[in-house]
Amino acid sequence: MVTAVAQRLASQRKEIDDTLATFALSPTQLQEVKAKMRVELERGLKKDTHPTASVKMLPTYVYRTPDGTERGKYLALDLGGTNFRVLVVKIRTGMRNSVRMYNKIYAIPLEIMQGTGEELFDHIVQCISDFLDYMGMKNTRLPLGFTFSFPCNQTGIDKGDLVSWTKGFKATDCEGYDVVDMLREAIKRRNEFDLDIVAIVNDTVGTMMTCAYEDPKCQIGLIAGTGSNVCYMEEMKNIELVEGDEGQMCVNTEWGGFGENDNIEDIRTRYDREVDGGSLNPGKQRFEKMTSGMYLGEIVRQILIDLTKRGLLFRGRITERLKTKGIFETNDRLALLQVRSILQSLGLDSTCDDSIIVKEVCGAVSRRAAQLCGAGMAAVVDKIRENRGLDHLEITVGVDGTLYKLHPHFSTILKDTVRELAPNCKVDFILSEDGSGKGAALITAVALLLAHLRIK
Ligand code: GLC
Repeated sequence: MVTAVAQRLASQRKEIDDTLATFALSPTQLQEVKAKMRVELERGLKKDTHPTASVKMLPTYVYRTPDGTERGKYLALDLGGTNFRVLVVKIRTGMRNSVRMYNKIYAIPLEIMQGTGEELFDHIVQCISDFLDYMGMKNTRLPLGFTFSFPCNQTGIDKGDLVSWTKGFKATDCEGYDVVDMLREAIKRRNEFDLDIVAIVNDTVGTMMTCAYEDPKCQIGLIAGTGSNVCYMEEMKNIELVEGDEGQMCVNTEWGGFGENDNIEDIRTRYDREVDGGSLNPGKQRFEKMTSGMYLGEIVRQILIDLTKRGLLFRGRITERLKTKGIFETNDRLALLQVRSILQSLGLDSTCDDSIIVKEVCGAVSRRAAQLCGAGMAAVVDKIRENRGLDHLEITVGVDGTLYKLHPHFSTILKDTVRELAPNCKVDFILSEDGSGKGAALITAVALLLAHLRIK
C-alpha cells in the first residue's frame, strides 16, 4: 500500500520534471541561440536578405547619443505599453542630470487599441488636447518627440511606416502607413492646435539615449517589459539600407521577431505554440512571446492547465478562472509571476504541494526568458566588439521594463547568461528612468541640433 502511493507520487513527480525540463536550456542550446541571433542580425542589415529577415534591423536616423549640450523644452508622447502618456520635458544645459518632466497618463481602452486607426489617433489627439489645457500650453508650439514602440520602417527621423502592430494593439488601416502622417492628420481633423513633430522614436532608442545622457558608454538600449526588444549603435557601413559609410547609426533590431523563420522550433514547446496560436498575431514575434511580460503569464497558465488535466495539480480540477486568458498579466506590477498572487487570482484552495509546483513552473518559464534575452544580448555585444576590431569590449546597456525591474531573478539570470556567452565583453546594465519620455525629448533635441548644423 505504502509503496503504491510512493510509486504514484514518484511517477507524478517525474511527469512534472519532464514537463519543466522542456524549458531548461543547456549551455550548448544557449550558444546556438546566440549564433542564430547573430546570423539574423546580419541578415537584417543586408539589402538582399533584409526583406526575408526575421530580425528587421530598422534604421532609426539617430546618429549619436547625447553629449550634454542638449537643452530646451519639448513635448513628448509615449504610446506602446498599456497606457498613453503626454509629457513636457525641460532639459537644462551645462550639467547632466538636469531634466524636469511633467506628465499625465491616459488609459487606452481595448476597443480603441483594436478599433480603427482613425479612432486611435483621434483619441491620442484628444489626450494631447486635454494635457495642453491642463498645462495651460494650448498656444505654445513646442517641438515634439513621439515614442511609438512598434516596428517602423523609417526613412528619416520624422518618418516611419508602421510595419505591423505587436503586443496588444491591432487598430485597422495603420500597417504600411506613416505614423507621423496619421498623427498630423488627426491634429488637422481636430483643428484646435498645431504641433511640430520632429522625431519618431522607438522605446529602446529612448532608453539608450536617456542612459547615454548619464553614461557615455551606454550604446545599447534594452526593453524587457510588455514587449522585448533591443537597439544599439551600428556602423553606418554595415547598414546597407541607408546611404553613406561614415560614422554610426542606432539600429532598432526588433529582435522580438526572431524565430519567425522557424529557426528556433527546436526550443519552442507545445505551450509556446498554444500561446502563439491564441495571440493577436499568430506566427509572429515568436522570441517576444518567449521572453516578455505580456506572454509569460500565458505560458504559465497553459502549463498549469495541462498539469491539472493530467491530474498532477489542483486535484485535477480546472476552474473557470484558470481557463480565462490573461489572468496572470505579467506586466501587472504586483503579479509578476509571484506564486501567491497567481494562486489567489485562481481562487483555488491549493495544497502546499500545489504551491511548490506553481512556483517551479513560474521559475522555469521566467528563467528561460532571462536566458534567451541573455543569449540575444551576447550576440549583440559580440557583434559590436567585432565591428570595432576589439579583443575586449566594455559597454553599458540602458534598460527599462517591468520584467527587468520588478521580477526577482530576471536581471540576475540575464547578466549571468551574458557573462557566460560573451566572455570577451564586460557588460554593465543601468536602469533608465523614464526612457520613453526623456529619451524622446533628447532625440528631438539632438535632431534639431543636427538640422541646425546642416542649415548653417
Ligand atoms: C515590441 C515592439 C518594439 C518595442 C518592444 C518593447 O517588441 O515591436 O518596437 O520596442 O515591444 O516595447
